[in-house]
Amino acid sequence: MKLIVTESYEESSRVAADLYKNVIEHKRNALIGLATGSTPIGMYECLVDDYKRGLIDFSEIRTVNLDEYEGLARDHDQSFGYFMDQHFFSKVNLKEENIFLVDGAADAAKQEKRFNDFLKDNKIDIQILGIGNNGHIGFNEPDSYFTASAHKVELAEETIKANARFFEKESDVPRSAITMGMYGIATAAKVILVATGAAKAPAIKKLLESDHVDPQLPCSILHICEDATVIVDKDLYELTK
Ligand code: F6R
Repeated sequence: MKLIVTESYEESSRVAADLYKNVIEHKRNALIGLATGSTPIGMYECLVDDYKRGLIDFSEIRTVNLDEYEGLARDHDQSFGYFMDQHFFSKVNLKEENIFLVDGAADAAKQEKRFNDFLKDNKIDIQILGIGNNGHIGFNEPDSYFTASAHKVELAEETIKANARFFEKESDVPRSAITMGMYGIATAAKVILVATGAAKAPAIKKLLESDHVDPQLPCSILHICEDATVIVDKDLYELTK
């Protein structure tokens, strides 16, 4: 696992975008794994900027998103599909048929199967991850074991609290989601985890100090990923020392 310490969140976003650009330049039809939340917004801005300047072509690129809230359709303004449309999909030349999103409004069991079938047939070339304050990646919450396949999860209380900032009130936050499991993440050719903000420091500190895989710290799966890079800004890094 590599660690890159940057000067700022903006630089972390640029470093992450350059890693994506590099994969896309070498493979026109790469499958790029995407995440939502506040952390990757800067990377999407950089990629959109590169696209506008003619430096990246997404016409053959395929995408897969890590997760989606159960019960929210793509046109719901807090769904992850809506987030992706706003921040990325509507701004670049991706083809709709090359976008894989879980449909939060559809039957969860059917969506799990659809997601697992997709991941069985398609290996991810690069996957960006944010990290929850509790060390979750995707919506793989701390637990006594890891789940390999894509699955439905009940969100941890602290995740509901952390995500309440996007909703009018905490009770509006969906209590469950469908997430990529550890198989999809761990078999990605490259995994990058971007973290910023003091709230992430305890989880990043544990990750950097450990060398074992612990289901109570889901991000620790990065220790066994083939090519994993953690990107943090210096303000966060200082807090892990
Ligand atoms: C979202 C996701 C989550 C977030 C994490 C951090 O698709 O998979 O694991 O990356 O909750 O969210 P932010 O970036 O909002 O702090």
